[in-house]
Amino acid sequence: MIKAVDGTVTGNDHGHSAGGGGNGHAASVAERKPIRVRVLRQDVAGGESYWERFEIPYEPNLNVISVLQKIAARATSLDGRAVAPVAWDCCCLEEVCGSCTMLVNGRTRMACSSLVDKLLEEGDEIELRPMSKFPVVRDLVVDRRRLFHSLERVKAWVPVDDSYDHGPGPRISPEEQQDAYPLATCISCGCCLEACPQFTKVETVQRAGETAESLEKRRKDSFEGQFVGAHAISQAMLFNSHPTGRMIADERLEALTSAGGIQMCGNAQNCVAVCPKHIPLTRSIARAGRAATVWAIKRLFDR
Ligand code: SF4
Ligand code: SF4
Ligand code: FES
Repeated sequence: MIKAVDGTVTGNDHGHSAGGGGNGHAASVAERKPIRVRVLRQDVAGGESYWERFEIPYEPNLNVISVLQKIAARATSLDGRAVAPVAWDCCCLEEVCGSCTMLVNGRTRMACSSLVDKLLEEGDEIELRPMSKFPVVRDLVVDRRRLFHSLERVKAWVPVDDSYDHGPGPRISPEEQQDAYPLATCISCGCCLEACPQFTKVETVQRAGETAESLEKRRKDSFEGQFVGAHAISQAMLFNSHPTGRMIADERLEALTSAGGIQMCGNAQNCVAVCPKHIPLTRSIARAGRAATVWAIKRLFDR
């Protein structure tokens, strides 16, 4: 629950004008208005959330991560209070690791590739919130374990689990490679899950005196039967198209047709619209739907 919006406008009337950071034609860097950011904060998992505003001097070509670094270095809110630095996740800074997903101006995006000059074209202030479909750990850091658990559910790997030399792998034609490559660019960022109406938040809060093992078990159990998500469906199709990965195609289809599988997809196509890698998720979902139907009919006759 959000407590309050604090630190509203101070005596500083350098307020931003719409488009103030966008085109850079009118004002020099020194004349540019400060960048104002409001962050939805949460001190602990399961705690209450609250808004806090920050302001940093304008610099051209910043991204959201560099803004957060500058905010952390100051650790002072817009109304002059010393506050704990905002926590966030990031690693690669080039849209590869998938860890920096957050809601930037209300839209799920990668913070590292969200450019401030562009964002200031959207409004006077940049708004940062954690993803809403995953439990908040602290501030903008969320627990994405369910995302990876979905990949486990559909066995999103090639099952070659030993150290023997198997010789050269099976040949894959250039056409097959071209077809599979876009799916292999998934960075497990969770944008598709954040945008999906069928993927709803599941949060398991530690009970008083509960051990870490018991909490982990309850957490895993709570994921079962929940929608696996577009990323997992797409990865299942990727590994089912691989000549070696195909060895356990039936197991993946079994997972995709069980509770929380592809039948939950409402085909709203929000996922494909927000994927930063432009992965053809609706194509994967359509393929998975067809494969699941054929598999279910085959299984009926095999009985
Ligand atoms: S098409 Fe399916 S997976 Fe994608 S957003 Fe819609 S319901 Fe979710
Ligand atoms: S499919 Fe796209 S949006 Fe979904 S996790 Fe992969 S890269 Fe992110
Ligand atoms: S920091 Fe790795 S994707 Fe943004």
